Amino acid sequence: MNGESGVRRPESGVGAVVQSGVAQPSCADPAALDAILARYPAAEPSLAQVLQDVHRAYHYLPCDVLVRVSSALNVPLAKTFSVATFYKAFSLEPQGRTIVRVCTGTACHIRGAGLLLDEIARQLRVRPGETTADRQFTIKTVNCVGACAMAPVVIVGDRYHGNVKAARLAGYLGDNEQRDAN
Ligand code: FES
Repeated sequence: MNGESGVRRPESGVGAVVQSGVAQPSCADPAALDAILARYPAAEPSLAQVLQDVHRAYHYLPCDVLVRVSSALNVPLAKTFSVATFYKAFSLEPQGRTIVRVCTGTACHIRGAGLLLDEIARQLRVRPGETTADRQFTIKTVNCVGACAMAPVVIVGDRYHGNVKAARLAGYLGDNEQRDAN
């Protein structure tokens, strides 16, 4: 658990039962960044790849880490932030280890995506765009993911679920926790 003050911890529901699981480096922990920087030439062409690895390690791009990346690669900070904010895959806010994506494209919307989104938010006790206090899950909405025939679609981590019913959501989220713990 992150033990952050002022962050509401779920008292029940799927997000609440998650234990710490995978260790997540904090902004103050430079070890993960040192290991990443050691893998690449200290020059601007490494920037995108370094940011990808940083995002994978920290589950977001912490500001202090971006400053260190700029310095290490000798890239202006403005350029680093420009790349960090250009790609949708990057986030400057802490993300959960698992991203739960609810497709809200037309076909999914017609077939109940809104209700699924509400139910996921209820179970995890966070709103779309937010991350659970234990940093296990972040809820996001996405546009059509090209699987309209199986609408409504919910993607938990890298797993696509089609023809989703609200009653199955807890199982999908729980399965993911199980795999994460193993
Ligand atoms: S609208 Fe959801 S997959 Fe196409």
